[in-house]
Formats: sequence, structure tokens, C-alpha cells
Amino acid sequence: AAASATPQWRPSVHFTPHQNWMNDPNGLVYHEGEYHLFFQHNPKGIEHANLSWGHAVSTDLVEWRELAVALEPDELGEIYSGSAVVDHDDTSGFFGGGSGIVAFYTSAGEAQQQSIAYSRDNGRTWTKHAGNPVIANPGIEDFRDPKVIRHAASGTWVLMLAAGDHIRFYSSTDLVNWRHVSNFGAERGAHGGVWECPDLFELPVDGDSDRTRWVLIVSINPGGPAGGSGTQYFPGDFDGTTFTADNAADEVLWVDRGADFYAVQSWSNIPDADGRRLWVGWMSNWNYAKKVPTHPWRGAMTTPRQVGLTATGSGVRLAQHPVDELDGVRTRPRRWSGVVSGRGSAPEYFGTALDIVAEFLLDPAAPEQAATFGFDVFAGDRQRTRIGYDAVSGELFVDRVRSGSTPVSADFPARHTASLGPDGNAVRMRVLLDRCCVEVFGGSGHTVLSDLVFPDAEGDRVRPFAVGGRVRLESLEVYDLDGR
Ligand code: FRU
Repeated sequence: AAASATPQWRPSVHFTPHQNWMNDPNGLVYHEGEYHLFFQHNPKGIEHANLSWGHAVSTDLVEWRELAVALEPDELGEIYSGSAVVDHDDTSGFFGGGSGIVAFYTSAGEAQQQSIAYSRDNGRTWTKHAGNPVIANPGIEDFRDPKVIRHAASGTWVLMLAAGDHIRFYSSTDLVNWRHVSNFGAERGAHGGVWECPDLFELPVDGDSDRTRWVLIVSINPGGPAGGSGTQYFPGDFDGTTFTADNAADEVLWVDRGADFYAVQSWSNIPDADGRRLWVGWMSNWNYAKKVPTHPWRGAMTTPRQVGLTATGSGVRLAQHPVDELDGVRTRPRRWSGVVSGRGSAPEYFGTALDIVAEFLLDPAAPEQAATFGFDVFAGDRQRTRIGYDAVSGELFVDRVRSGSTPVSADFPARHTASLGPDGNAVRMRVLLDRCCVEVFGGSGHTVLSDLVFPDAEGDRVRPFAVGGRVRLESLEVYDLDGR
């Protein structure tokens, strides 16, 4: 029987394909005024099959226009994940002295190998390179997800890919001929599953461009912090051929502590005048991605985020925020300040696409200080997703145990936690709700939890809560997110 449509779970400001399957973001590149978002896509059905690159473009990272499928399977196999760059100086020779976009992807046939394609018309049509694959399989089963960057200091192109339990680096001057130059990671970081989807970029520390670190991103499945898929990162240094991590071999740093932030990739070719590092992840988890109950599409992206590095006592750490452009679709601002105790002490808000910005103030000396507090969202009589702070353990959490009645899988109902030290006495959180998901940014953005949820129709309220006492909600702003 055909599944019935689920428009109530179609996000307002998060990208979803009109129909059919989607997983990882691919080929993220800014070119001629457009942010391109290619994505793992089955143009023919809602299952993970016929892997192709779907395509969407945006001028503001909020409103997306889906275009024709860009790359379809061929005799070398399906088109798995990869990246794209702008070849400004025609180093490839594909552009007759002009410039254009070159895409790198994994041809997933009998073996996984790396192939390239190029576009002379801003990503609308593509030509696959006649000499594919450009990196043949060396006898490694998992050998995929090429990410290419320009290394300015050495004037070379760098390609990195995931090879089972490590990242391999390659070097090129023409984007076509690649030389294997180093490996990273077999003895570092988390190894509870296969490594996938690397990325690498340089960021200023605390906005100081004289002080930079490189950050290597590695997705891993399974073995993530909330079970199944997760994304780790390594701050360090990169000299054009070799990556050296700053953190200890056994220290694992997670980008996001929710269950649904995977295969993240950053946009290439963002103009210097903008200067931001922008990225987007796939908001799902291989533990249950194939059972997600939406129809006629399956798969959503996270909100695009801007990424920074800040110095902390234990080393530099990533901080993430929703892109500023999201502010442009905030409507109906509402503000409140007061004390939250039992039921009915604070106002209740209606809506399933909201941006909530809150600052709570702890009073550790007060005997009536609440042990946990925060917001019940997508709340109704029989369900709620609880987003809160546990003042005893110092953890931010998302609890989706009773978030709806539609079963997804046994792995789905869970409480996900992430440590968050208060800033003085202040506990800050920004919560994006969008029909089928929550993204929680704690403190100054070091602590993030992204989770899918599938509330029933009656789960349309937001209620501040406090358990075991009271808490001061010093400032609360609630906006509608008025997207699609
Ligand atoms: C990550 C991933 C990639 C692969 C793609 C296939 O989610 O498994 O490693 O290229 O998805 O769709």
C-alpha cells in the first residue's frame, strides 16, 4: 500500500527534496552568487538506491530551489558522496582558459574509486571526465568521499578521502592527476565504525587571523556519541601534505551530541569578504535513516551553520551557530522574563517552526533552585520533546523518549546529553524547532544537539518547565520561523 503523505513533518526552513530519498550533502560550493547544495539522492524512489547527485541552489542559505538531477549512475557505478571546487585559473584545462566548477565523487561499482565531472554553466549541466576514475581503488573496500581544497601556501590542490579506519591525503596541480602523500588517523580518535566524509579547513582562533588552526572533520558510523552515526573533529596543523592533530590520541571531540548530524561538509569558494566557514549536515542517522516515516520524501538537511574556533583551557574547540541569514525569516517576536516553577507559571507558545533564545540564571545558594529546567516542545497531552539543562550534572539534554507515537526504530527513543558549563550563573540555549526536528545550541555554541522527532498533530506547543524547584528565566525570545 502507498504510504500517505506527511506534510506536517515537512520542515519550513530546512532543506528537503520534493520527493524521494536524500542523504549526505555533496559538492557544496558558492559560485556566481549562488550557494550550491548537491546531495545523495535516489531520483526514482524513497529507498537508498540509484545514488545520484540531486541539486538545489539558494542565494541566502534559507530558501532553496531544487533543480534537475546533476549526476546519475554510469558504467563505473552509483554516484556516492564528494565535493566541488571552482577552478578559477583553469588548472584542469576543462574551461578553455576560463573557469568553472569541478566535482569529485566516488564511483561506487564493484570497487569504490574517485571520479570527476565539470560544469561550464554554473552547475546546470555536467560532463564526466573521459579518464575516470582519476584515483583507482588500491584494494581497500571502503575508499570514498573525496573532499578537495585549495592549499594556498603551497599552491596545490589537496584531496582527502575516507579509507576505512583512516583518512588518505592526495596532492595535485591540475585536479586530474593525484599523488598519495600521507595518511592520518588509524591510531587516533573514535574507531567504533567506518570513517566517512572528511573535510578540512583553517580557522582563526577567537577571530584572530594571526592565530589559526586547521580542523579535520571525520564522520563515523557506527560509534557516534548518541549511537550510530556521529561526527568527530581534530584541531591541528596542515602543511599541504600532512595533518598533525593537537589533541591526545585517545581524546575524542564530537561536533554534535545529538543523534542526527552526519556527513557534514563546508562550502568551498566563500568570498574572502564574507570570511565565514559555513556548513550543513545530513539530519539523520544510519541506525534508522531508512525507516524515517516521512512521505513522499525521506531525508532532511540541518540548518546551515557558521563555524568558529575558540580557545579553551583544554585546547581550541569548535563553536557553531545557525547562519545569520536565518534571522531574516524570524517573524512575530515575543518576549518574556520571569520565574518558572510548576505548571502554568510561564506562558505557553503555539507553533512547530520556532526560534527560541533563552537565558536562565542559576542561583546555587537558593534551596528552591530547580534541578532541571528548559522547554517542553512539540508538546501535547500525551507527548513532548524535553529540551533542558540538568543543573546537577551540568548537562544540556534532548529527551525524545515520548516525542510522538509513530515508531521509527528501537534505537530512536532516547535521551541525548552534552556537558555544558554555565557562563557565570547564566545558562544560555537557542532552540530551533522545525516540524520534524530540534537543534539546540548551548552556551556560546560549543555544545550542540541535533535530533529528529516526529510529533503527532496535537504536539504543537512550547512550555517552559522547571522540575524540583524554580528557576529564573532572565530573558526569553520566541519567533516564528516563516520559511517555505
Ligand atoms: C555517508 C555515506 C558515504 C557514502 C554515501 C552513500 O552517509 O555512507 O560514505 O558516500 O553515504 O550514499
